[in-house]
Amino acid sequence: MGTRRRRVSVIYFISKLIKWDDLGMEIILNCTQDSIKKAAKALKDGYLVAFPTETVYGLGADASNPTSVARIYEVKGRPTDHPLIVHISSISQMDKWAVDVPYYAINLARNFWPGPMTLILKRSQLAKDFITGGQNLVGLRVPSHPTALMLMKEFENLGRFGVAAPSANRFGAVSPTTADAVLEELDTFLSGKDLLLDGGTSEVGIESTIIDCSGFTPNILRPGIISKELVEEVSGLQSGNNISGSNVKSSGLLISHYSPIAEVILDGKTSPEDGFFAMAEIQTPIGAIRLGSPATIEEYAKNLYSALRLADQKGLKRISVIQPSGDGLAIAIRDRLSKAAAR
Ligand code: TXA
Ligand code: MG
Repeated sequence: MGTRRRRVSVIYFISKLIKWDDLGMEIILNCTQDSIKKAAKALKDGYLVAFPTETVYGLGADASNPTSVARIYEVKGRPTDHPLIVHISSISQMDKWAVDVPYYAINLARNFWPGPMTLILKRSQLAKDFITGGQNLVGLRVPSHPTALMLMKEFENLGRFGVAAPSANRFGAVSPTTADAVLEELDTFLSGKDLLLDGGTSEVGIESTIIDCSGFTPNILRPGIISKELVEEVSGLQSGNNISGSNVKSSGLLISHYSPIAEVILDGKTSPEDGFFAMAEIQTPIGAIRLGSPATIEEYAKNLYSALRLADQKGLKRISVIQPSGDGLAIAIRDRLSKAAAR
């Protein structure tokens, strides 16, 4: 009797930790090493695993498995010629996926990995067309979120090489920065054997800086928290942010992206009933619905996507946003906002 009661309470405890969802994927709230091992095994077996990173949540698949990767495109509703970032556990895995890595790229990796930076490099044999969108270049990133990093390590311990992961949202929609936002986006598209690892709110809140390192100098394709100034300081080279001049195909380069359902108005007139997002020191216009009051630029980035989501949850028609001024992270925020506002 005593044993049975103990067993029942253990099952109750586990069921509290692992919340089963009726239709969609299994959600793991408490990411212990065992649950991360289980997620690595699920990836190896061909299932999808949504996982937290310090930027936004990713939707992962075995980057060497064409069937699993095809499911990412299906679940996201993303065109199949858009390349995916391969996530690895450390710089030592880089030469599995990339060849002819220039010294400045190694320097960037040494300085900013694990962290919110993706390097675009010449691909190795391992990076097939279904990962690179048919280009001869591959995107690589070592994420710093402990759950993501452990997932990559456990996956590699199973003899696999990397996890392909776009942001875990439907194509063109706002990237998720919490597990709830992943559910909101993808629950109906994922099956019972797919997993979602809940790792709390993403610390950075906007996607990684993407740097094309296939040329003699770095070229920033997507701005992020790793700024142009930092890239130049570490590489010792002038960096382009020649997004439009680049012939690299990248969906983050689309003019319209990261869009909520509500219309986003930048630095314009706020009407009553509009959502309103701005730094804390800016007063809420009369009748507007405040969606957030970040005190710092870092907080602005961290809260932005959940504020856009909140507006949609409230069924608002418009969101009035006062953009942050300045360089660095503010440039990346304005980049995302201009895409969210484009129709
Ligand atoms: O922060 C991030 O980068 C997140 C987390 C999950 O790591 N991932 C992310 O992935 O934002 P995604 O797919 O939503 O955006 C990645 C961008 C896309 O615009 C894609 O086209 C570009 O990176 N990209 C990936 N591989 C590339 C390649 N080989 N050449 C050019 N662009 C590439
Ligand atoms: Mg994305």
